[in-house]
Amino acid sequence: TQTSMIDPFGRTINYLRVSVTDRCDFRCTYCMSEHMTFLPKKELLTLEELDRLCTAFIEKGVKRLRLTGGEPLVRKNIMHLISEISRHLRSGALDELTLTTNGSQLARFAHELADLGVKRINVSLDTLDAAKFKAITRWGDLGRVMEGIDAAQDAGIKVKLNAVALKDFNDLEIPHMIRWAHGRGMDLTLIETMPMGEIDLDRTDQYLPLSLLRTRLREEFTLNDIPYKTGGPARYVEIPETGGRVGFITPMTHNFCESCNRVRLTCTGTLYMCLGQEDAADLRAPLRASEGNELLSNAIDEAIGRKPKGHDFIIDRRHNRPAVSRHMSVTGG
Ligand code: GTP
Ligand code: 5AD
Ligand code: SF4
Repeated sequence: TQTSMIDPFGRTINYLRVSVTDRCDFRCTYCMSEHMTFLPKKELLTLEELDRLCTAFIEKGVKRLRLTGGEPLVRKNIMHLISEISRHLRSGALDELTLTTNGSQLARFAHELADLGVKRINVSLDTLDAAKFKAITRWGDLGRVMEGIDAAQDAGIKVKLNAVALKDFNDLEIPHMIRWAHGRGMDLTLIETMPMGEIDLDRTDQYLPLSLLRTRLREEFTLNDIPYKTGGPARYVEIPETGGRVGFITPMTHNFCESCNRVRLTCTGTLYMCLGQEDAADLRAPLRASEGNELLSNAIDEAIGRKPKGHDFIIDRRHNRPAVSRHMSVTGG
């Protein structure tokens, strides 16, 4: 049966992001503070419960599903969940199963992911400089991520890079990153930093509006707007000099909430209807209350029925508090 979820603003919700763990083997400075307290493992939904939730959403009209974290590939037995969800690809109920990953475990999992029907992944990579990479991720190793990207490409998975644009950190390096990514057949998406969770650095100092970066890139490249869409919020340009695409994700300077198509599920069964709002719905109780899916289905409908119009993110010196208190690692972006 073909159903669809429509929110109060007429938006069709057909994209689910699932954070399978809040843990990560990196500590990116804009995402976490140095000493994070993670959920006790007993709070996590089991993989079977996550599968039941994903399946319920697919039955209600979700066509694209993205696993995130934390780092999705550090969740124990994650390939079991991916393998289960992949049955919906084979049945045609799901159009796309993807991941957003830091790449650290990709060398190990790339071929298996490809075999299960994962055709493209997004890898977070903010710099190509090993020392800077260490500084921004605190715990990461650039060499391992590079091996991961190689393995994914070898396995035939299309890789898109995500870079958070950070003033005085990677802004001058972005043209080089674009050339490097395009030279290897990868798109690159730039992201404006969003004020989520208490972090150790001053966000106002790091914030770089992409409108400014775009103007600077124009000095070096031709940026041709193209209608290319992946289902996400990025607006793409094509660069004839390199033959590749650059995406701009601009929650701060160019709000894209009116075309939002997604909701976010956490590893505890909490559903966030917007990345930039605190409101959430508990799906764990209805999930556990019965073997059947009726309560769960009603709870999902109720949640979609209160999806907000958009976020209230703002970065300025008089509002030196994050717009939402949870860290980005709770929902994986
Ligand atoms: P594709 O377009 O399918 O490649 O995915 P995507 O860009 O939506 O997914 P990805 O995980 O690569 O997202 C990149 C980043 O964009 C996220 O980590 C967020 O920072 C941001 N982002 C994605 N979706 C939203 C959204 O709905 N609202 C806001 N404010 N930011 C978002
Ligand atoms: N603002 C914007 N993007 C962020 N990410 C993590 N924290 C933030 C933030 N505060 C991005 C990562 C990764 C994705 C999961 O979320 O770079 O690409
Ligand atoms: Fe980990 Fe991703 Fe957060 Fe970095 S942005 S700490 S890789 S969850």
